[in-house]
Amino acid sequence: MNNAPNNSETKNPLLGGRGAISVIGAGTMGNGIAHVFAQSGFAVTLIDVSAIQLEKAVATISKNFDRQVAKGTITEAAKALAMANISTETTIAAGVKNAGLVIEAATENTELKLNIFKQLDSAAPEGCILASNTSSISITKIAAATKWPERVIGMHFMNPVPVMQLVEIINGYATSKEVTETIITLSKQLGKVPCLVNDYPGFIANRILMPMINEAIISLYEGVAGVEEIDTIMKLGMAHPMGPLQLADFIGLDVCLSILKVLQDGFGNPKYAPCPLLVNMVMAGKLGVKSGEGFYIYAAGSKELLVSARFK
Ligand SMILES: NC(=O)c1ccc[n+]([C@@H]2O[C@H](COP(=O)([O-])OP(=O)(O)OC[C@H]3O[C@@H](n4cnc5c(N)ncnc54)[C@H](O)[C@@H]3O)[C@@H](O)[C@H]2O)c1
Repeated sequence: MNNAPNNSETKNPLLGGRGAISVIGAGTMGNGIAHVFAQSGFAVTLIDVSAIQLEKAVATISKNFDRQVAKGTITEAAKALAMANISTETTIAAGVKNAGLVIEAATENTELKLNIFKQLDSAAPEGCILASNTSSISITKIAAATKWPERVIGMHFMNPVPVMQLVEIINGYATSKEVTETIITLSKQLGKVPCLVNDYPGFIANRILMPMINEAIISLYEGVAGVEEIDTIMKLGMAHPMGPLQLADFIGLDVCLSILKVLQDGFGNPKYAPCPLLVNMVMAGKLGVKSGEGFYIYAAGSKELLVSARFK
């Protein structure tokens, strides 16, 4: 534990008198989710198998709060209060024992997530709500691994969590009405806009986004237009803040490929088949921002967007 929770909402009536939130996985999404709950006055326990990752996550949250302070959107005192709301643990058993809500934001791997939810059967308090931030794994399948499928729900935050307003709420087959209503209210308490959808492959966000990204890659593959042209057309013509190829680099091309496969398998419809160019790029290790190259090149420290030599 790095510090004790310091918060006024520990007894949130919404969460059966328990206000504590546990976030499993302290990566990109986990640290963002911890950030927004801590800022809204909730005690948050961030859990990760890696102590180093936990240290990094707390440092990232602090740096992101500093950015908000510099912009004048929060005060130094508010930052100090929020940071004092965050504690860390390396085991699920210790990290969820006081939780009213657990949000799982661990690596996107079905077996790993099913295993985490099975552990929650005995580790989480009776009545605790169990949410997953998965981008593509079925909430119904995750729920079926637990004793409490009616208490399992999808809470799909967008990256970067402190900035993006949307939370896609996904009702599994067995999710109770009471759990859905609680999670909608809670999302509003965070200042987010919840949108409720049912559990089918890709939910709504990725079911619509990924075919658009795939179509952009197919257009490039067929030589209809170049990287810059495709992205500029979608930015200036459709008022998208970022073109689909740049967005794919940002999400990670391996992640895009895996979500397209979930759509293709889940619906059995060839319209979701990933473009062969996307498959090749992932095999070549060109994964976008995280590997330093995708459709664009990401030189350390450079803010300039340079098209990869492969596509010139
Ligand atoms: N990155 C995005 O843009 C994005 C957006 C929306 C949803 N998601 C979803 O959020 C989840 C997390 O994604 P991410 O990008 O933050 O991943 P990430 O790789 O940055 O972080 C995952 C973390 O989970 C930890 N972890 C793995 N197994 C664990 C276990 N058994 N117990 C505790 N911690 C464990 C890892 O150590 C790592 O720190 C995934 O389900 C992903 O699909 C990601």
